Amino acid sequence: MNTTKSKILFEEAKKYIPGGVNSPVRAFKSVGGDPLFIKKGRGSKFWDADGNKFIDYIGSWGPHLFGHNPSFIIKALSEAIKNGTSFGAPTSLEVKMAKIITELVPSVEMVRMVNSGTEATMSAIRAARGFTGREKFIKFEGCYHGHADYFLIKAGSGALTLGVPTSPGVTKGNAADTLLADYNDINSVKKLISSNKKQIAAIIIEPIAGNMGVVKAKDEFIKELRAICDEEKIILIFDEVMTGFRVAAGGAQEVLGIKPDLSTFGKIIGGGLPVGAFGGKREIMEKIAPVGPVYQAGTLSGNPLAMAAGFAALKYIKNHPSVYKTLEKKSAYLEEGFKENLKAAGKNYAMNRVGSMMCMFFTEQPVDDFKSAVKSDTLLYGIYFHEMLKRGIYLAPAQFEALFVSTAHSKEDLDKTIRAHKESLTEILI
Ligand SMILES: Cc1ncc(COP(=O)(O)O)c(C=O)c1O
Repeated sequence: MNTTKSKILFEEAKKYIPGGVNSPVRAFKSVGGDPLFIKKGRGSKFWDADGNKFIDYIGSWGPHLFGHNPSFIIKALSEAIKNGTSFGAPTSLEVKMAKIITELVPSVEMVRMVNSGTEATMSAIRAARGFTGREKFIKFEGCYHGHADYFLIKAGSGALTLGVPTSPGVTKGNAADTLLADYNDINSVKKLISSNKKQIAAIIIEPIAGNMGVVKAKDEFIKELRAICDEEKIILIFDEVMTGFRVAAGGAQEVLGIKPDLSTFGKIIGGGLPVGAFGGKREIMEKIAPVGPVYQAGTLSGNPLAMAAGFAALKYIKNHPSVYKTLEKKSAYLEEGFKENLKAAGKNYAMNRVGSMMCMFFTEQPVDDFKSAVKSDTLLYGIYFHEMLKRGIYLAPAQFEALFVSTAHSKEDLDKTIRAHKESLTEILI
């Protein structure tokens, strides 16, 4: 594969952008090698600066449920741009957008648009704190909620009571209000609650995690979590930045049958443009300025271009409920193909899938939390990633990410991917 142009661009980029990238995981650090610079995308494929073509399973890390450049999103954007790019005043598109989100996700009675998933989760925590008058919150090891200071906390020893900052720049004070529990382990939550009585504002969780590979919350666990939040008057926040409109029109909460108090969204709701949103119970959302005292704002929030693209995506979902059946069929086909290849290779690697989110872990033990996820052989993943890339399949350049199937992936794409998987396994398992 000739990657000369990408290499030149990367060298140039590194002079002006930290690490040459605007988001760290794009840099291929965990799989080795240099990132490819992408020039254009269409449907299930994209092309790099050297003209190499790939079947894309990142879909911009989740937003592209319909593949690249679906005609109905391009049309909506072309129409919207004629009227201007931003006004800093309300538009009818924002009303349509808020309405369709509340229709598709019944737990959301009111919603505020923001510009990224990070802004959404950060604002949801502030709303929960403002509503409850409490300061601490619980997050789960292995869940990612964006890069706001108090989310970048990792467990140190004994850190089930006090968080320890993971990134320089995060203060101890910030970390102290973040309590860390184990995913799918209700006892770890109970312990934190009993040692922090009436101090916990919120529990935030990816109800189907996509940031430690794909790990689904167990039914019993999520039910108990809901019950505990009700008992203790803790705000339950589902971070659906990745799962919202991905695993079902109503997100993970529809799949799991549990209603959170607040939800956060991003990715798909922007139709490929930078958008986030948080919303939920009216009584909590009415604490947000200008109705209430909890301040939250954004110069470009509800941007007309982003709303046009996002609304086109959500309208399509609303009018075509069969989208999720199609995605399930395609994703199950891919999973089956991978599983047959694994069987033929004599490997029983853990394969987790919920709808069009999927992950193969390089460990033969089941993966249901962070500790089991990190048993995966990440070095082997790096080699596998490059074998797939050589064969024209673009996966996430990191093990603990989801593979996303879109409606644009054809049977031919899936068959090619299954063949590449078989060949790659053969190469790496020699
Ligand atoms: C579950 C979840 N929450 C929040 C975020 C942060 O979103 P953003 O990168 O748009 O800030 C992400 C990003 O991948 C995510 O997967």
